[in-house]
Amino acid sequence: MNAAHTKIPATLIPGDGIGPEIVESVVTLLEEIDAPFEWDKQIAGMAAVNEHLDPLPEPTLESIRRTGLALKGPLTTPVGGGFRSINVRLREEFKLYANVRPASTQMPGGRYEGIDIVLIRENLEGLYVGFDHYIPIDNDPHGAAISSGVNTRAGSRRIARYAFDYAVKNNRKKITIVHKANILKALTGIFLETALEVAKDYGNSIQVEERIVDACAMQLVMNPSQFDVILTTNLFGDILSDEIAGLVGGLGLAPGANIGEHAAIFEAVHGSAPDIAGQGIANPMALLSAAAMMCDHVQRNDLGVKIRQAIHDVLVIDKVRSKDLGGNANTKEITQALLKRLKG
Ligand code: NAI
Ligand code: MG
Repeated sequence: MNAAHTKIPATLIPGDGIGPEIVESVVTLLEEIDAPFEWDKQIAGMAAVNEHLDPLPEPTLESIRRTGLALKGPLTTPVGGGFRSINVRLREEFKLYANVRPASTQMPGGRYEGIDIVLIRENLEGLYVGFDHYIPIDNDPHGAAISSGVNTRAGSRRIARYAFDYAVKNNRKKITIVHKANILKALTGIFLETALEVAKDYGNSIQVEERIVDACAMQLVMNPSQFDVILTTNLFGDILSDEIAGLVGGLGLAPGANIGEHAAIFEAVHGSAPDIAGQGIANPMALLSAAAMMCDHVQRNDLGVKIRQAIHDVLVIDKVRSKDLGGNANTKEITQALLKRLKG
């Protein structure tokens, strides 16, 4: 059978806020290049709360169990009380232990040139395990707050292996292990210790260094081109990946992949952007880049390359840019410009 004609079942989650707008754009663009996905559209997030009283309803989980593959719009998580983050629940449900966030300079003339960093974040452990609660003191129900992080040897080993294998496969030269083992000696010490152990299996093929997270945050701003692959824990990865997205033009361009052994979910790094939802001005490029990673993932790197080239051409040659990138194009205009490049 010709691989180009084999359909691959995949779950499609429009999501909240700007989600439906950018998902619609990306699906149109994927159709243009005959991407092999056969979409099973499912709801999650606030849309699902309204219909099923659960932000992550069973039919959606069932679909991902079946397809093992999803493209997902951003989901709104109420701050503080209410529901536990749906994104975190999804990662736990499908054991999506690796979060991969590449960021590279797209537009010349920005603050930095030539940035090409891939951040690989442990996605299931650390301070995101949900041991987080208040303790009442006297009459104050929020008299104290306690949170515990959990990093395991096995979890640290699994993500470190993923990062080193990724580096080898993608021709990367260096991995920087980012931690806070000087203060969180056990919690992030085990991560550092295990990652350094795993590194030994890769000999001299990959250069290895370690950084304390605060120093890393500063060095990313001072001299980002020194970084290649960054390997870090859950919370630090969350924070640093937004910082890295900021170095290359902001959240409107940053894609992410959540990878497990049996499922992979692709999404933009940004959230549901309630401040611009419904206005038709959201930038679909971050989600489109995530779709390009999804193409790579199903061995259609040819399509991934094509998509990344189209994004580059629209930004740099056509100079069609959304408001978050300093332009004034709306979602429709950006989609049209991308369509033209993908046709061309
Ligand atoms: P956000 O990423 O939604 O927005 C931050 C800023 O970036 C806003 O000014 C927004 O307008 C802008 N922005 C984001 N994406 C854009 C795009 N594609 N085009 C143009 N501008 C864009 O972060 P915020 O406001 O902190 O979170 C909003 C909601 O999204 C929260 O409920 C949060 O929990 C959720 N969230 C969901 C994520 C996911 O589903 N993976 C990831 C991050 C946040
Ligand atoms: Mg985040």
